[in-house]
Parts: sequence; C-alpha cells; structure tokens
Amino acid sequence: MVKAERKHNIEDAAMSKPQQDDINTFRREVLAWYDENRRVLPWRALAGNTSDPYHVWLSEIMLQQTVVAAVIPYFLKFIEKWPRVHDLAQADNDDVMTAWAGLGYYARARNLHKCAKIVSEELRGVFPIAQKALQELPGIGDYTSAAIRAIAFDKPAVVVDGNIERVMARFHAVTEPLPAAKKTLKALTADYAEGQKNRSGDFAQALMDLGATVCTPKSPKCGLCPLPYGCDGYKQAIAETLPRKAPKKIKPEKHGLVYWVENGLGEVLLEKRQDSGLLGGMSGLPTTEWHEKGRDVDHLKAFQALMKEKKNGEVYHSFTHFNLSLKCVAVAVQKDEIDVSGLYYWSDIKSLKAQDFPTLFSKCLTMWR
Ligand code: ADE
Repeated sequence: MVKAERKHNIEDAAMSKPQQDDINTFRREVLAWYDENRRVLPWRALAGNTSDPYHVWLSEIMLQQTVVAAVIPYFLKFIEKWPRVHDLAQADNDDVMTAWAGLGYYARARNLHKCAKIVSEELRGVFPIAQKALQELPGIGDYTSAAIRAIAFDKPAVVVDGNIERVMARFHAVTEPLPAAKKTLKALTADYAEGQKNRSGDFAQALMDLGATVCTPKSPKCGLCPLPYGCDGYKQAIAETLPRKAPKKIKPEKHGLVYWVENGLGEVLLEKRQDSGLLGGMSGLPTTEWHEKGRDVDHLKAFQALMKEKKNGEVYHSFTHFNLSLKCVAVAVQKDEIDVSGLYYWSDIKSLKAQDFPTLFSKCLTMWR
C-alpha cells in the first residue's frame, strides 16, 4: 500500500480517536440538526417521545436490507392488520407471509412471526431492553438489537447501518474499503454513542437521516451539513469517494423452468415452497430447480404446443447472490390427470393477486394473465 493511503487506514483511525470535547460538539450539532430536519416516518414518535417498541421492532426487521420508501406501505399494512404484538402472534402464518410478499428476504417474515409469538406468549408482550436478551429472539442480531435498545428504550447502544457507516467514514476520512472497515467504523460510532445519558434513539436516527438526506452516497450536500468543519473527508475533498468498497463479485447466472398449469376449470397449479431455502414458506408457480448451467429442456417445445395461445416468454429476476432466468412453460391438463398433493394445490385464476406473491412470481403472473 502506498504511504499516502496508509495515512487513513484502520490503525490511524484508531489513533485519531475523538476527544471528549469533539464528541460533545459532534453530538450537539447532529442533534440540533435533527430537531430541525428529522424525517417524518410512521414508526417514529413525535419529538420528545419514545416510540412503541412493537413499532420499532417491526420497522427495524423490515428495514434490514430494504429501503425506507419500500418499507413504509408494508409497515402501515402490518400495524393496521395487527395493531399489537399479540395480534401478530395470533395471526395465521400464511396471512403473515402473504402480507410480506414483495418485500423479499422471506426468512425475515418467518422469524418475525416466531418472535411475535415468543414476545406475546412468553414475555407478556414486553420486548427486552438488554441487547443480549433481544438477540435471543428470532431474527434479531447485533444491529437490530442495538436499534431497538436505542430507539424504543432510549438506552445507549452502538447502532451502525449503511448510512451511519458512510457518515463515519467521511467524517474520519477512513479510506480502508468495506467490508474490512466495518470494525473501524463501529469503533468510531461507539466513541460517540457509548456512555451517553440521553437522546440515544434520536442520535442514532439523526445519523441515519443525515446519511439519507445530506451525506448521500452520490453528490453529498456538504453545504447543508451541520458538521463540515470537523469533517476530515470534506477537508481533504475526498468525502464523495468514501466509503471505499471492495470490488463486487460477479453474480452467477442460474436457469430453470416455471410452469403455468391450467386445468380447464379456471384453476392454476400453485406450490407452497418449503420453509427452508429461497422464497421459503411462500406460494408460487411450480418451478424446476435452478442451476448455473441450463438443463436439458427437450420437453419445452412439446409443452408449449399444448397451450399455444399462452405467451411463453422468459422472466428475469436478480437475487442477492445470483441472477435467475426462468423459461415460462404453459401446460393444459385435465384436473384428474395429475395427482395434486403435498405442497401443490389448485387455485382459482380469477382471484389470484400478483401482489400476494414474491416478485419473481408476480412477474410471471403479470405476463401470463
Ligand atoms: N434505517 C434503519 N432503521 C431506520 C430508522 N429507524 N429510521 C430511518 N432509517 C432507518
């Protein structure tokens, strides 16, 4: 590594540990900015109040890997259907999975329901305050337990999401690339968050809002920032280039077939997917396994001949670790021709709603109907 770059790596970030005066100034400026500029979000309490822990937990689970704008309508739908953790605990699991459809990462919905049952049935509806106890609940890890502790209970906790990482990387000019820099950025955040007596939830949310609206990934609005004079990234004119990221791995391409099997009685064959694995627990159209190399699809033409009037296209979908292309095969059968059991079931075509399915299958439904 060249000398100039070494200047801002992990060791130097540790060396430039902020002093108490700097910490106080940073917190004061950030909190004053938040009081004027906080985003209005449906899970947030009004200024000066703490939020309902159920709302904080629900929103934080939804916000794992999903942006605020996408979460808002789901959050509102969930609290309308299930206003208290006890209501969610008593809900039918299929209804919870259907309400989650389209938000992705379906293990979150399965864990959400399990967690609601434990909190409702074993903890009398009360979420724990300690991070360790929170982390014993399904779906709650280091980040989410810190966010719940700070935001719902206003207790000091080191909350570090992508926005906060960016603010810290820029403020301290950390040039070490992510993900290796995570440790440094967490330690820096801890310097500002640990041991504080008040406004822990506001401080975490202030950094999130600053990252989302001012210290943005592209074209940061440094002119609107409450912190430019202390910001090393700004002073060195490298803010926009931070945080650096290790090059992304190229995603493999997977292939398979997806079937539209109609039985002449206005019904289509659906499959409830196994709980484990991708899109686990969700309903969808039947598919083959997905493989990196296209498998032998000799029977494709024969099937296609059966339902000429149906479009036989291809659907593309990008998952976190691979891209998928599915060839779409429409097939007409007599209802008694196939033995439908186990995970398969017939469903009335007219009452299918694309929004009740994972995005992959709602793309197929949109094409076929
Ligand atoms: N991202 C994750 N948690 C958040 C929160 N509580 N407010 C805004 N953005 C968030």
